[in-house]
Amino acid sequence: MATKGNKDGVQWVVPDPKRENWYWPSDALRQHAWVSDPKIYDQAKADPLAFWAKQAEGITWFQKWSKVYEDEPFAYKWFVGGKLNLSYNSLDRHVEAGRGDRVALIWEPEPLSEPHRTMTYKQLLEEVGRFANALKALGVRKGDRVGIYLPMIPEAVVAMQACARIGAPHTVVFSAFSAESLRDRLVDSGAKVLITADGYWRRGKAIDLKPQADQALPGTQVSKVVVVRRMGQEIPWDAQRDVWYHEITKGQPTECKPEPMDAEDLAFILYTSGTTGKPKGVMHTTGGYAVQVYTTAKWDFNLHEDDVHFCTADVGWITGHSYVNYGPLMNGVASLVYEGTPDFPDFGRMWQIVEKHKVTVYYTAPTAIRMHIKWGDEWPKKYNLNSLRVLGSVGEPINEEAWLWYFHLVGGKRCPIIDTWWQTETGATCVQALPGVGPFVPTVAGRPFPGIRARIVDASGQPVKAGEGGYLVLEPPFPPALLRGLYGDPEKFRATYFGEFGPKVYFTKDGSRMDEMGNIRVTGRVDDVMNVAGHRLATAEVEDALAQHPAVSEVAVVSKPDEIKGEVPVAFVLLKKGFQASEDLKKDLIKTVDKIIGPTARPSSIYFSEDVPKTRSGKIMRRVLKALVRGEAVGDITTLRNPECVEDLKRLVGYKG
Ligand code: PRX
Repeated sequence: MATKGNKDGVQWVVPDPKRENWYWPSDALRQHAWVSDPKIYDQAKADPLAFWAKQAEGITWFQKWSKVYEDEPFAYKWFVGGKLNLSYNSLDRHVEAGRGDRVALIWEPEPLSEPHRTMTYKQLLEEVGRFANALKALGVRKGDRVGIYLPMIPEAVVAMQACARIGAPHTVVFSAFSAESLRDRLVDSGAKVLITADGYWRRGKAIDLKPQADQALPGTQVSKVVVVRRMGQEIPWDAQRDVWYHEITKGQPTECKPEPMDAEDLAFILYTSGTTGKPKGVMHTTGGYAVQVYTTAKWDFNLHEDDVHFCTADVGWITGHSYVNYGPLMNGVASLVYEGTPDFPDFGRMWQIVEKHKVTVYYTAPTAIRMHIKWGDEWPKKYNLNSLRVLGSVGEPINEEAWLWYFHLVGGKRCPIIDTWWQTETGATCVQALPGVGPFVPTVAGRPFPGIRARIVDASGQPVKAGEGGYLVLEPPFPPALLRGLYGDPEKFRATYFGEFGPKVYFTKDGSRMDEMGNIRVTGRVDDVMNVAGHRLATAEVEDALAQHPAVSEVAVVSKPDEIKGEVPVAFVLLKKGFQASEDLKKDLIKTVDKIIGPTARPSSIYFSEDVPKTRSGKIMRRVLKALVRGEAVGDITTLRNPECVEDLKRLVGYKG
């Protein structure tokens, strides 16, 4: 395939002559894009199954499917009877096509003194083969779950690929999550092997990981722990249980036959926050996931084989699964993995990486962009960012200021911003503008991807008029990568996603509105899920963590808008008798949250209150607390059991509503 474009500094967008801050693809971009004719939307709408079947032909199947889609309530299936392997599609097929010497992974360690590493497709395939064989030698078989608790090092991608190769569903746990969070996920998934590392660099500090992993193991079914040596420091070791990655892979053959997976075989489990305290194990199967991730990566970012794709998400999140690992690799491009933080050694680090590796696609979260704004314009200006072609945004609504800054300062007014709406549950992007089609408009994600049916409905499930707010729902045929269940909890799966509008309507839990052209603007969650710095978190999770502190008798957590992080948790804590409110106690409560969930869940404020508003049946009225911390009207409180507490709370939070 010939690749046009990708030349430094090409103008990829042009402004709309009539509408301020609207942009369209330039002729150069239209010519370079996989898709530039908007008719694709209508064609796909007329026959979504034919559309997806055509996209599925873009990847390699060991056996073709016999039926494209099966519309069973709660048991929809894609590419029925088809057989394939995610790792084969990520690696072997490029090597077999003579593209084995192309770069697959670029790894930037955090310390500038350490050289970066690259791996070609051939090298990555060999490393994955060795590790897949080593996992088999440890007794891992098709269907066995494997926990992965790794920082952003190449072995994180190798481990996921090796699991996919042998058909062992991985469950990746974010390395900054606590031992308790890891344990919950290992117990729920029944993982028998855990892959971790001795540590990693974070803001110039060596962070230990192994002690946390060890602490998580009691009570789980994990019998073997594979440890990657990243740092080389002394670590606790259990000779019966622990093995070094470099030792078990040494001498293993590089060849490992990819397991032919049924399209509906489980590919992986990824835990995410629901409205309760306990995270849910979102199940993704192989065929539909592969097809949607492959197609969206290719079309959203207009990937061609000389692209350098830098998605800043951690592999612990779905964005890292789909757009650091599987999506870019299935498309045969170079995927960049960065170990550290964007502010180390200084605020220009991300732009230094873009310049150094001539990154063409940069995909990040609005919260990161807002941090860059705070750090100042001089940082992106110091570097040559002319290699950039497409800028992506994900994880939360992008505000106009962040969009414009990203567009001007990072993209040099040349690059389209592809604001992708999706969820852990959808596995791949679902709503966005396509680079060759547009329009690119601040705060507006775009149209549902071709072949995806999204609507905005009111509380009774009726479609709302253009411009009116409502709930975003997905309708059959459901997106190929949509989750197939919650691990071990079919009832919860039905109730959570199909409880509101019935078995034929998947409820995203997001509020949104659509303009006359069909472009969707997603405004945010309508349930008790917060989006803190792009990380999904239930208020109930933070409540559960705080409630475990011995001083806490009752606790309510609500979210509050935050300039940088989008939203932050705020906690109202009622103390048990004998405990005094103090700054030290606040610190101790924060430590409890760190220990039970991780620092991402820390409340930004903790208020020690005498009481919290409750209904007559004793339920905490979080709506009132939310209004108080946001300075909004509190509304009707006459039905409260204790309306008098609202005045005290107003004083406590300094309410100016
Ligand atoms: O509220 C939506 C928001 O993030 C939620 C999904 O979070 P999670 O499962 O962690 O996945 C994040 C990465 C895919 C959604 O329900 N969200 C995600 N992308 C956008 C968004 N909100 C607005 N615009 C987006 N582009």
